Amino acid sequence: MQLGLTGRVALVTGASKGLGLGIAKALAAEGASVAISSRSLERAQAAAAAIPQGAFATHHDARDVEAVPRLVAEVTDALGPIEIAVLNSGGPPAATDGAGSLAHEQWREAYELLLLGQLALVEAVLPGMRERGWGRIVSISSLVVREPSSVLVLSSAHRAGLLAALKTIASESARDGVTVNTLLPGLIDTDRVRELGSNTPMRLAAIPAGRLGTVEELAAAAAFLCSEPAAYITGTALAVDGGAARSI
Ligand SMILES: NC(=O)c1ccc[n+]([C@@H]2O[C@H](COP(=O)([O-])OP(=O)(O)OC[C@H]3O[C@@H](n4cnc5c(N)ncnc54)[C@H](OP(=O)(O)O)[C@@H]3O)[C@@H](O)[C@H]2O)c1
Repeated sequence: MQLGLTGRVALVTGASKGLGLGIAKALAAEGASVAISSRSLERAQAAAAAIPQGAFATHHDARDVEAVPRLVAEVTDALGPIEIAVLNSGGPPAATDGAGSLAHEQWREAYELLLLGQLALVEAVLPGMRERGWGRIVSISSLVVREPSSVLVLSSAHRAGLLAALKTIASESARDGVTVNTLLPGLIDTDRVRELGSNTPMRLAAIPAGRLGTVEELAAAAAFLCSEPAAYITGTALAVDGGAARSI
């Protein structure tokens, strides 16, 4: 299948490692001109150097809504108008003492990271995509949106809010050739999963596929949602979870 991504300008945020970097690599391998960002310019540059086709690297903290115009302008100056935006960042802290144990400040920070900051980027790139009649927005969310987790309550709660907002935005922009979709990773083999200690034998046994997903498997789904053949898929949330979701 031809994904039709050659020459498309893509920005992947939170891409110095893990899922973001994997998606950037997949898009670059399909011929897209890729920009990546993370909180550290040095880490983003090192990651860009690991992409065989190369990538433009810059710094951006997903919580910093004031910096979004600068991010978009830098990428546009370097590569051209952003046609594909992959919304990604690090995840919030775990609520190891239960959902009711978090400070209000932690709720506020997670809201900025997972909802407000991502929405600010969508607002910045969407008008241009709609004017040009083509665009792809893919949000990297989590399966805990569909099946809430007490330990990851910050993630479940705020990502559900973003998912609802993106559903509306998808319907508003569908006639302009812009699709807006969400990926729901289950357990994919990255540093975050190791840091959260989620890769225990018990957790793995609960996954029908019997293993963690690979970054490449998640990235392939993202690249497809960014592609030309995915033009009629919008407002949807796709689990990449080895069958872990129990709901239908
Ligand atoms: N892996 C999974 O199985 C899984 C499952 C469900 C959901 N998710 C979610 O998917 C996202 C990516 O996960 P991952 O496993 O790839 O995580 P990861 O391995 O920890 O990588 C996170 C990436 O995001 C960047 N980052 C962290 N905080 C940031 C911020 N405030 N602003 C911008 N960039 C930031 C990091 O780079 P810098 O440190 O250089 O900024 C890094 O490149 C996370 O939100 C995670 O919660 C992952």
